[in-house]
Amino acid sequence: MKTKITELFGIQYPIILSGMTGVSTPELVASVSNAGGLGILATGNLNTDEIRNAVKKVRQLTSKPFGANLPLLIPGARKKAEVLIQEKVPVLNYSLGKGDWLVQKVHSYGGKVVATVVTHKHAKAAERDGADALIVTGHEAAAHGGAVTSLVLTPSIARAVNIPVIAAGGFADGSGLAAALALKAEGIAMGTRFMNTLESPVHENMKKQSIERSVHDTVYSDRIDGLPCRAMKSPGTEKLVKSRFIIFRALINSRDAAKAYGFPWLKLTAGILFAGYRKAITLARMANAFKPIQMAMSDGDSDQGVLLLGQVTGMVEDTPSVSDLINRMVREACDATKILADKLASEMIQQ
Ligand SMILES: Cc1cc2nc3c(=O)[nH]c(=O)nc-3n(C[C@H](O)[C@H](O)[C@H](O)COP(=O)(O)O)c2cc1C
Repeated sequence: MKTKITELFGIQYPIILSGMTGVSTPELVASVSNAGGLGILATGNLNTDEIRNAVKKVRQLTSKPFGANLPLLIPGARKKAEVLIQEKVPVLNYSLGKGDWLVQKVHSYGGKVVATVVTHKHAKAAERDGADALIVTGHEAAAHGGAVTSLVLTPSIARAVNIPVIAAGGFADGSGLAAALALKAEGIAMGTRFMNTLESPVHENMKKQSIERSVHDTVYSDRIDGLPCRAMKSPGTEKLVKSRFIIFRALINSRDAAKAYGFPWLKLTAGILFAGYRKAITLARMANAFKPIQMAMSDGDSDQGVLLLGQVTGMVEDTPSVSDLINRMVREACDATKILADKLASEMIQQ
């Protein structure tokens, strides 16, 4: 396949593994890159040493291009970005913040920058800042999708910018890929679908849940982790949405989060307390969500755990290997274009 994204990254298929915290490990990243897509490593929950080791591990497992995702909202993001830049990661994907300060540094070693956005305003800003491509995340997505669905957001942002758009949120098969390309995207990124593959580190019970759950079994709320966020319906998710005394709870819960982020606890709690009310509540909710999210992904607790999950979970029916999934999607995308051509045939003859 040939699109602006395959050309930009030097990959075979315009299929990208989203950088999912706790999921997009070196093994999963390398599997996607080896199968012809682009694996994006998650670094949100790693400290700087762990990030360096993870990048080295990816390079041991694949010689193909790969990327790394960094949510800029998390504590210590600048130091983590420095490590990714020192390691000359081929594609740096930032989300949840403004990445103007890292663009030139990544370009100086020949790397590419991809900004994840959910609005036109942020898409235009990222383009002005020099990003090479955008991941545009629709409402259907797991975690932090925008208010607008992919069907509308993808073509409207693709029309508004001059850099290639990668559609994310709601993609799980080849007809979705073909649809995204028809909507003027140059590729797709998938989270929920890749989470349920043989190489994904997510607990087996969560893979099972993702098969059993329907398109109606997710919740979208800004009370899960402080930002508008989508997760699987569960008692644990409901508890977070309804929880009170947010900041008080965060002072206790931030200890685990600080440890995982490789950030001093006192600095994190001070950051929460003095961030101003709105940001403090967001950071506090993030700290409170940390443990339930871990409980879902690592312990498979579908009761008290909180699994970030997209609506497309209702279309996930199996646990294939990454290469089987990608090959299947490529076949399905070709079939979809044939089906479309047949349906449009009479019109095409008349034109
Ligand atoms: C468990 C999980 C963790 C995620 N962590 C991150 C993250 O650290 N950074 C980020 O930019 N997006 C993160 N996301 C969102 C994905 O990058 C992506 O936008 C989303 O999964 C796409 O929608 P889909 O699930 O419908 O494919 C996460 C998603 C999941 C399911």
